[in-house]
Amino acid sequence: MPLVTSGELMKDAMKREYAVGAFNAINMETAQAIVAAAHAEKSPLILQVTETTLKYTEPEPLVACIHELIKESTIPVALHLDHGRSFEIVMRFLRMGFSSVMMDGSLQEDGKTPRTTEENLEVTRQAVEAAHALGVSAEGEIGRLGQVSDEQSEEILTDPEEAAQFVEATGVDLLAVAIGTTHGLYKGTPKIYTDRVAEIRERTDMPLVMHGGTGVPDEDVVEGVKNGIRKINIDTQMRVACHEALWKIMNEIEGEYKQADAAGEPRKYDIRRLLAPARDAIQEVVAEKMRLFGCAGKA
Ligand code: G3H
Ligand code: ZN
Repeated sequence: MPLVTSGELMKDAMKREYAVGAFNAINMETAQAIVAAAHAEKSPLILQVTETTLKYTEPEPLVACIHELIKESTIPVALHLDHGRSFEIVMRFLRMGFSSVMMDGSLQEDGKTPRTTEENLEVTRQAVEAAHALGVSAEGEIGRLGQVSDEQSEEILTDPEEAAQFVEATGVDLLAVAIGTTHGLYKGTPKIYTDRVAEIRERTDMPLVMHGGTGVPDEDVVEGVKNGIRKINIDTQMRVACHEALWKIMNEIEGEYKQADAAGEPRKYDIRRLLAPARDAIQEVVAEKMRLFGCAGKA
């Protein structure tokens, strides 16, 4: 199945009213887990790589491997840049053959300082123009996602009128909205403003994106999808599953090492014994989310 744009995936999601899961890959194992889950669930997929992955690895070789995985896949996959913070980054990912990019103009390149709405609009407009010239879809963000796991104040939620102006001025294909979600784990139960989703949809008629999907109660996810969320980003929950699987297997291995040491036998080291269960655990999280979002069975 060839690579598709996120815009193409959104057409069916809009028509049949479900959300496509968007999952972050940082290496081959995470990418394999995500694609395997999509196959098992017969789900369309948005596989994404974040700009911050650059701090971990040069993305070009990783992306070359991901392209191979996608070529072999039998479900439609969009390869998406998540949270690109500058025009230059968007261009770098476009050169790598991404079929979808997010220009996150809500914050400056440091990922902390807010941009003004005008600055956001201008940088997003330029990124969308570049993406569209290559037939690539573009996501923009208006409003600010909570940066800390704290209560969200209503002032930073996306304003429906401002959203409509932003869509009109930038030409984005998908719109990330601030509705009370935040990246990472929440301190308690988050308050998700699902009514705001319906109000934004009313004014924009756009595929809306929920970031910070980890920890959002299932009923809010379902309500959000009912009201117009068509892409949901998940990252932290995959990290949690990966850590838990690693702890479990490390404990087992530690026991074996103690026995080997006591018997005067050499320890056996095999990295694959760590990575395989971690990969399986990530796959399980992705599959479960696909069923919740309604994209399972849609490919
Ligand atoms: O862009 C990525 C996400 O919004 C993931 O959020 O780590 O809270 O699941 P999460
Ligand atoms: Zn995000």
